[in-house]
Amino acid sequence: MQTVQDAAALRAAVRGWRAKGQTVGFVPTMGNLHAGHQSLIKLARARTERVVASVFVNPTQFGPNEDFERYPRTLLQDQAALADEDCDLLFAPDVATIYPFGAEHSVSLHVPQVTDTLEGAHRPGHFDGVATVVCKLFNLVQPDLAVFGQKDFQQLKVIERMVRDLSLPVKVMAAPTLRADDGLALSSRNQYLTAAERARAPLIHDTLLKMRELLEQGHPWQALEQTAAARLTRAGFVPDYAVIRRAEDLAEPAEGERDGLIALIAARLGSTRLIDNLPFD
Ligand code: PAJ
Repeated sequence: MQTVQDAAALRAAVRGWRAKGQTVGFVPTMGNLHAGHQSLIKLARARTERVVASVFVNPTQFGPNEDFERYPRTLLQDQAALADEDCDLLFAPDVATIYPFGAEHSVSLHVPQVTDTLEGAHRPGHFDGVATVVCKLFNLVQPDLAVFGQKDFQQLKVIERMVRDLSLPVKVMAAPTLRADDGLALSSRNQYLTAAERARAPLIHDTLLKMRELLEQGHPWQALEQTAAARLTRAGFVPDYAVIRRAEDLAEPAEGERDGLIALIAARLGSTRLIDNLPFD
């Protein structure tokens, strides 16, 4: 697997494949790769002839008091993990390549509506940073297909909407959430947890399952949200939200609406903020 840092080398590699008529799949990441990321590479690998991954810890999607500085940077391990999945090329740019005028002076994309709520409400500007960097990466890589995890469900919706609204020539594919045996969704941030916190963290997935079970038993979704938040709080979490929404647009369901719903939770455990969700199929 080839690793390139600059845009010209990336474009040259992709141009070579295109000249041979090969299709290109793309998996953008912030690195510190785990089996969840690797499952995205596998999905791309099965669908396109060439696969590009990117590792870029994007400054514009972190708030001033968030973990940009301490976010784990593990490029050597990431290269090995990607090579294991038969990835063709790793694009690992520096900040100046992505933000030639500086991150704070960059053109910024805002995707309306779907960003007003949940993560968008708790992390102001976060999705502007995500949309901006993903659009830039799409322009650099020019993939046919890009794979995103359902783990970050709202992010997936933001990307889908951006692609459609800007008529970007890329197909967005959703990948299921990969979990540890005890249900905790794999995340680079799990390593911030102490051993005691890690033991408690599966309660988030357990609560999502409980929300689904109670909804299936006919409980109104509003009551479920309160029960879920209280359950997390009792166990020492500080929930930002524990909600049931329409999966399609993340709007509140109408009275009695039951199809196409999803439960989403964000909660702090000690100094770590965890998010997870469960679509009700
Ligand atoms: P990052 O958190 O590194 O995630 C990269 C991709 O891996 C995202 O599409 C995410 O949803 C997916 N992913 C993470 N954990 C997963 C799991 N347990 N199962 C399945 N997929 C999982 O998301 C980002 O980076 C950034 O916001 C990015 C899109 C790269 C823009 O900077």
